[in-house]
Amino acid sequence: MAQEVNMRDVVDCLKQIMYPGFDRDIVSFGLVKNVQASNGHVAFSLAFSTQDESTRRQITMTAKEAVERMPGVQDVQITGPPPGQSATAQGPAAGQHGQAGQPGKIELPGVKTIVAVASGKGGVGKSTVSVNLSAALADAGASVGLLDADIYGPSIPTMMGVKDQPGVVGQKILPMIAHDIKMMSFGFLIPEDQSVTWRGPMVHQAVQQLLRDVLWGELDCLVIDMPPGTGDAHLTLTQSVPLTGGLVVTTPQDVALIDARRGVAMFQQVNVPILGIIENMSYFNCPHCGERTDIFTTGGGRRASEALGVPFVGELPLDPAVCLAGDQGTPIVRRDPESQQTEAFRRVAETLRTSIGV
Ligand SMILES: Nc1ncnc2c1ncn2[C@@H]1O[C@H](COP(=O)(O)OP(=O)(O)O)[C@@H](O)[C@H]1O
Ligand SMILES: [Mg+2]
Repeated sequence: MAQEVNMRDVVDCLKQIMYPGFDRDIVSFGLVKNVQASNGHVAFSLAFSTQDESTRRQITMTAKEAVERMPGVQDVQITGPPPGQSATAQGPAAGQHGQAGQPGKIELPGVKTIVAVASGKGGVGKSTVSVNLSAALADAGASVGLLDADIYGPSIPTMMGVKDQPGVVGQKILPMIAHDIKMMSFGFLIPEDQSVTWRGPMVHQAVQQLLRDVLWGELDCLVIDMPPGTGDAHLTLTQSVPLTGGLVVTTPQDVALIDARRGVAMFQQVNVPILGIIENMSYFNCPHCGERTDIFTTGGGRRASEALGVPFVGELPLDPAVCLAGDQGTPIVRRDPESQQTEAFRRVAETLRTSIGV
């Protein structure tokens, strides 16, 4: 039986297509955006900067044929860039010479996929989502790593209930392991009472070190809890790791749409596929009667997804038990595996597993 094709397979396939006249593929040039794959239906857009009709046609046809030939693909839709994105369209600049390879990228050979969890601003539940998604992925049988790249406010040590210092072998740091998840955080390396003022380049270097100098070993998925915001440091960071894709966490209010849009744009700028938007604190389930109450304006995350042309991965309830579990060092997915909250995290993890193929 043909295996279901996922987003990563499609991106890998498109990486084989060279830009005409260049020794560099169309993905690394940033042409390919918004890749989606579900049940054999594949869609992506090609954000051309060139006005040359024959180059555009040649790339479009080659890309379509290549993806159509993939086992499990039923149909392929190629669209232009979503409205408002033409300014970020990519391609070789005039006079640019083709060059293979991406200098400065850190290779993590044993790590199959890397997923960055980002948000336009802090406090929307990025760490909570990272921790519980990691646990749900591990429950589904994946070997999972969790990198706390939020060096401004590392909360993974607290949320995972780990305080010790990591061991060192030679020049390498051993990841801490808790709840079947390998993890690393600056919170393990810097005493809690010591504050560090990070500037852009330092953020970049610090996070590179956590990636390069940690013995991650074999992982199906490395989840990165990104620093809040979308500044330059994030851009360099997303460029220095071969990211499989990015998730953007938001809350349901319409004002959050602006932040979600910024988060999505950050990934798009560096040509990281958008795995989708997750809406956290979407609704409240009454613990007494089970009735669902929407506390904020509803559907902001879904509307943002539609407006931006990216997948909507799911919604997660606002629940004191989620917060308490995090504060006490055991993610809700582990603390209360049968709960509705856990079920919501599992659904999001399943969608993620399908799209990254782990
Ligand atoms: N779905 C949720 N239900 C209840 N509390 C939540 C939920 N998501 C996050 N929180 C709480 O909100 C606060 C901020 O979440 P956190 O994951 O630290 O956000 P971020 O990493 O984006 O700054 C934490 O106290 C956390 O426990
Ligand atoms: Mg956080």
